[in-house]
Amino acid sequence: MKIILNLFLLFIGTNVQTWAVSVVPTKPVVCGQCDPGKCPMTSDKECLAGLSLDACGCCQVCAQRERELCDHPDAPSAKKYGSCGENLQCRIRPEVKTHQEALCECNDQIELCGSDGKTYRNYCHLMESAKLAKAEQQPIIKVYKRKPCDSPPEITVPPVNVVNQTGSNVFLTCEVAGVPLPVVEWIYQPSAGKTIVYPTDDDRISTLVRGGPNAHVLTSWLQIQTLQNTDQGVYTCIATNALGKAEKTAYVQVETRRDL
Ligand SMILES: *[C@@H]1O[C@H](CO)[C@@H](O)[C@H](O)[C@H]1NC(C)=O
Repeated sequence: MKIILNLFLLFIGTNVQTWAVSVVPTKPVVCGQCDPGKCPMTSDKECLAGLSLDACGCCQVCAQRERELCDHPDAPSAKKYGSCGENLQCRIRPEVKTHQEALCECNDQIELCGSDGKTYRNYCHLMESAKLAKAEQQPIIKVYKRKPCDSPPEITVPPVNVVNQTGSNVFLTCEVAGVPLPVVEWIYQPSAGKTIVYPTDDDRISTLVRGGPNAHVLTSWLQIQTLQNTDQGVYTCIATNALGKAEKTAYVQVETRRDL
């Protein structure tokens, strides 16, 4: 009786083991006969970059989106990422030298203005927002123009208050953003006396402008050389374009250097 029971347990044991092995396949996935009826439901609505076919070319799955990893013949990978969606191409990332990776990149890389008044870094980015808006039953988003949207000036880095001694050099910095690019002026309001608008032809106090750090941004500096007591006061950076005006002020405090 005991032997029979043991045999019975052994039988169940082996059965459980075989079952477990069949659940976790050790062999790579082999594409069988394609039966579209057995594919999981994937709706185009939930895929921001549209649909593509799975590794077996059978079922529709969400395509990879912009900046997501993708399968590229020259970047073999153990993992399958899938292919890129609409308006995207799979490109090798040149900066990853050791193990090559490929990312989905938009075919149209020009900055665009959407009908929602927002600037999109490229066409694919706009199309993703358009798809989301549609799914959420919000107003449709289309390309309004193939340029960034116009925007009023914004002071992204304002000038800061400075305390320095007479004879020193002082820089005030003002970083502004806007489309079209704003024009920057500096205004000096002394503690007593008339307001001055820079740039002027004064070569002790000058302005300097440079584009960047990125597009639609510029940086303006007001440089005060050999600081004098009469330079003390409020300095205002004023950025203007067709859509408006922005301004920020900083205070320059002058301390008299004793050892002069
Ligand atoms: C103060 O003046 C010195 C000497 O010209 C200069 O090196 C320094 O950057 C100035 N400090 C500020 C906060 O402007």
